[in-house]
Amino acid sequence: MKEEKFDLVVIGGGPAGYVSAIKAAQLGLKTACVDSQLSVDGKPALGGTCLNVGCIPSKSLLDSSHHYEFMSKHAGSHGIYGEVTINISQMQERKDKVVSQLTSGIAALFNKNKVSWFKGKGKLTSKTKTLVIGHDGVEQILESTNILITVGSLPISLPNIPVDNKYIFDSSGAIHFQEVPKKLCVIGSGVIGLELGSVWRRLGSEVTILEAMPDFLSVADKDIATETKKIMLKQGLKIKLNSKVRSCEVLRNKVSVTFDHNGSETQEKFDKVVVAVGRKPNTDDICKDNCGLQLDEKGFILVDNNFRAIENNVYAAGDCIGGAMLAHKASEEGIKIVEQIALGRNNKGFHQTSVPWIIYTWPEIAWVGKTEQECILEGQKVKSGKFPFIASGRSHAMGETEGFVKIVTNAETDMIMGVHIIGANASELISEAVVAMEFGSSAEDLARIIHGHPTLSESVHEAALAAYQRPIHY
Ligand code: NAI
Repeated sequence: MKEEKFDLVVIGGGPAGYVSAIKAAQLGLKTACVDSQLSVDGKPALGGTCLNVGCIPSKSLLDSSHHYEFMSKHAGSHGIYGEVTINISQMQERKDKVVSQLTSGIAALFNKNKVSWFKGKGKLTSKTKTLVIGHDGVEQILESTNILITVGSLPISLPNIPVDNKYIFDSSGAIHFQEVPKKLCVIGSGVIGLELGSVWRRLGSEVTILEAMPDFLSVADKDIATETKKIMLKQGLKIKLNSKVRSCEVLRNKVSVTFDHNGSETQEKFDKVVVAVGRKPNTDDICKDNCGLQLDEKGFILVDNNFRAIENNVYAAGDCIGGAMLAHKASEEGIKIVEQIALGRNNKGFHQTSVPWIIYTWPEIAWVGKTEQECILEGQKVKSGKFPFIASGRSHAMGETEGFVKIVTNAETDMIMGVHIIGANASELISEAVVAMEFGSSAEDLARIIHGHPTLSESVHEAALAAYQRPIHY
């Protein structure tokens, strides 16, 4: 068996792993990254779930389906007419091309930064050794001073709901449909359920979302959740709350879904079902023998405040340690770890409260910081300023007047506690709020900053004015 020595071995090449590997190499560490992901055509591909089967392909389909919906339903309001047809295989080819361009971009960055890429499954065998089982079955040991585990997460599967990716799909399978299902059931109204449900509804499916909980989008601020539900229902999504799915059975090319709806057992037939009931850490198989890693009862790797999993040299980051399962949170954790290893810096300056959340429905939903309800629960006196996009000139020019910006402040200090947006381009607008919160801004600070006119960002400005004094345009 061949052995090679490195300063750092990163196990996993997703947003936590590949970003850390590049940063480590830039900081002078001899770095290797082991990754087992394969592309749709079966070739090793960097970027993990996010690039290969998650964020990027789903956003590609979300954008394509958004254009289709605009052309077929809304272009007329701009005086634009014409027959619109869709070619799903071309849409899918475009998505696959976007993915392959980006994954090969990471391979090029590895080359440029001299990160060694090992293609296969990595397993921790001790606190300095990683076993690589290549796609061809060849085994190799990598020895390193430090190890960083960034193995990500997998879709949760439920008993009695057998995913076959033919009729019953997980989130990775649901981005590959080659035709638009007539009746689609999505189990779970979380982030994935809403995004994938939106894609296939826009393209013509009759989509029903079954959600076990009585509340809709309970992670979001209540005002945002209420507005989202109102808009989604208006768009034609069927949302059934209090609907816990018990089982799915494939019968004559249809899926029969059995669920408890408000306490009574109900059955409904669909052409396809997507299971989007959360994700779990991908840690079942991370150790060979007893490697010393400690997992919690759900399988998340236990780490200390500096992301250390074993003593001073084995670290873990991203989805596999829990917290928000978001690519940008994972990357930032990885950077902090690499800076500790290379520069001796500890984990100062990583604020979980400044991690933005984005849901790529249309309108988009984004927030950072605390919800109004969380602040109240903490006993804070809160003030909130709201500005609806219908009062924005730019929104009217765009024909995108749905939604609002809500800024929650501490009523005594005027400090911004959270910013919540539902509206066009919320995914981009939220960055200003993240900067404001990172710099400890008050609503007055934000209200006194000049915003370009006419822009959607003026609505963030106006919401800050609303929280601090009064908005001008509402
Ligand atoms: P989720 O945890 O957001 O939502 C799952 C939903 O399924 C929950 O509301 C749950 O009550 C419901 N559920 C569970 N069992 C059920 C049953 N038997 N019947 C009916 N409903 C049931 O999980 P999701 O949407 O799968 O996403 C997983 C992770 O991926 C999330 O943590 C999310 O942050 C991340 N992600 C983030 C994206 C983004 O940032 N835009 C995009 C996609 C995923």
